[in-house]
Amino acid sequence: MATLLGLRDDFLWGVSTSAYQIEGAAAEDGRGPSIWDTHCRIKGRVWTGESGDVACDHYHRWPEDVALMKGMGVAAYRFSVSWPRVLPRGRGAVNHAGIDFYDRLTDAVLEAGIQPWVCLYHWDLPQALDDLGGWTNRDAAGWYADYALLMARRLGDRVKHWATCNEPNVSTLFGYAMTWCAPASASWPDYLKAVHHLNMAHGRGIDVLRAAVPGASLGVIHNRQAVHPEGGKEENRRAAELLDAHWNRIFVDPQMLGFYPPEVAADIEPYVKAGDLATICRPLDWFGLNHYGPIFAKAAPGDLGFAWGENPDAKPHPALGWAIYPDAFREELLLISRRYRLPIYVTENGCGSDREVADGEGNVADAHRIAYFNEYMAQMSRAVKEGADVRGFFAWSLLDCFEWGSGYNNRFGLIRVDYDTLKRTPKESSRWYARVIETGEID
Ligand code: FCB
Repeated sequence: MATLLGLRDDFLWGVSTSAYQIEGAAAEDGRGPSIWDTHCRIKGRVWTGESGDVACDHYHRWPEDVALMKGMGVAAYRFSVSWPRVLPRGRGAVNHAGIDFYDRLTDAVLEAGIQPWVCLYHWDLPQALDDLGGWTNRDAAGWYADYALLMARRLGDRVKHWATCNEPNVSTLFGYAMTWCAPASASWPDYLKAVHHLNMAHGRGIDVLRAAVPGASLGVIHNRQAVHPEGGKEENRRAAELLDAHWNRIFVDPQMLGFYPPEVAADIEPYVKAGDLATICRPLDWFGLNHYGPIFAKAAPGDLGFAWGENPDAKPHPALGWAIYPDAFREELLLISRRYRLPIYVTENGCGSDREVADGEGNVADAHRIAYFNEYMAQMSRAVKEGADVRGFFAWSLLDCFEWGSGYNNRFGLIRVDYDTLKRTPKESSRWYARVIETGEID
């Protein structure tokens, strides 16, 4: 039986992607290398040895991808700009062919009746900037502000919805404290500096966008996941508090409340100058929430004081890469509404699988994904009834794509991509999503 979600009349349904994960054309039309191009070439960094060199070839196939979105009836499309495609060395000389690509894409998205939502940084820092220290260099906030201004001037007449960055917690913790993401520095001081400078970039970006884009609606996209001590054990409690500070608050609190979490404040203090927190904490129009499920921490030696824990009680689901906890989604939406008091757009939620089988025509009957969305959307609807101010939902993802450290193994798309032929085939879930958009009902 269908269940009415009971959302606002103007609730915005969308899909999300990111540049490095779909565009391909890594060395075409003047694009410079990013830290992910470098990372993928280092043996062992991507488990499958793959890269985003070709990805979904969206750089050439974007008209088809826009048509697919239109066919689904989505009202908004969130994509990211590849900084090294528009500024091959990260600053200085502009690559006009790269900007033209985003220009044409924006026009086509608008012509399809879809709102473009642009994210300026989804992890693909220009390699030339990393050679100067990347986010560990305090100048990075200024490099980013210049890049934001360039894009605002070029697209701001048509793009009104902008996010400064996507999941800076993931790209810094995994990229600077650990080696799961580029640039894999594994250095505690580098991590702390990168956090602070990316926070500064966010604040400066907001000011630039506010000044340059008439009628701008500005936000930032954070991955928030409740943290639990592994096994519910007392010995892992401190580790869970620390991971919560690093994962959920080290960016969100300074950006929205103006202070660093007490668990990390002393560590980060050497890099903070007078006035920095005022630069970081700028008025925002919305909170972009990426959410998949809670995470678990266990005590560990070292600067971090925690390690990634397991959850032995995870709801088993053989077709999913990650376990499902729809209740945690409701709790997170309510918590964000109360603590940060901003309208929320769910900018990512979706279901990965490394077991999807297509028939000879490329069709995938992805009942696991439909079940996942049904459960998560039911909890979103409950959260709204309980007072959370949720204004939109963007499914991750439009297409199967390059899933970072797991290469092309983990498929999240509503549309299947055959990586040999690059043929797109809408999955069963894309037809299900189209019905949700049309009727406001889940199964
Ligand atoms: C998020 C990322 C996104 C994608 C999904 C599955 O952490 O923002 O790029 O990889 O997870």
